[in-house]
Amino acid sequence: MATWSNLNLQNSASPLMEQIIFFHDHTLIILIMITILVGYLMINLFFNKYINRFLLEGQMIELIWTIIPTITLIFIALPSLRLLYLLDELNNPLITLKSIGHQWYWSYEYSDFNNVEFDSYMNQYDKSNLNNFRLLDVDNRIILPMNNQIRIMVTAADVIHSWTVPALGIKIDANPGRLNQTNLFINRPGIFFGQCSEICGANHSFMPILIESIPIKNFIEWINNYS
Ligand code: CUA
Repeated sequence: MATWSNLNLQNSASPLMEQIIFFHDHTLIILIMITILVGYLMINLFFNKYINRFLLEGQMIELIWTIIPTITLIFIALPSLRLLYLLDELNNPLITLKSIGHQWYWSYEYSDFNNVEFDSYMNQYDKSNLNNFRLLDVDNRIILPMNNQIRIMVTAADVIHSWTVPALGIKIDANPGRLNQTNLFINRPGIFFGQCSEICGANHSFMPILIESIPIKNFIEWINNYS
């Protein structure tokens, strides 16, 4: 989960977030190489005495410094497109979770079951309880089975919100009057935190998302006992 002074991405808990991290590292390496090369060339410009009064054009160097950046961009664009289409791929989901953004809380519906719906408000922080995560914990957590394809439907009831869970690589806007779809696959048990990431009003910071990922037999037990 996100903690203080964490500059990197959170560890992934889903195959898609893993792919996003791979792409980030790949692109960052290319970016660092470009920065070093251009920085070296610019510093060199200041500290040399080369003068050429008759220089008007240079076909060969212009060809080189056009083609090399083109190839570099292709090396970024192709994996980027692959990732873009991969993130939208949804095959045969086991269950569907519908999350609705409100000012300022989320409400959830398990549309495959009758009357499984609840509101999820942020908990008041309690210093004496060590299991309480300040500004991230909620009264009703989302329970989801691990190692299963899950469809997420996202919408909002008032203004635009955004359903964002970094460890699972999900960030999808919740628009009133629109239904957005995304998918999720959690590959380990645990709790995963998210926050609204669309500026939606005064209490925007206080509508966290908390997913509790558990084995499927426990999930079935939970859904059976849901009252
Ligand atoms: Cu809801 Cu920001």
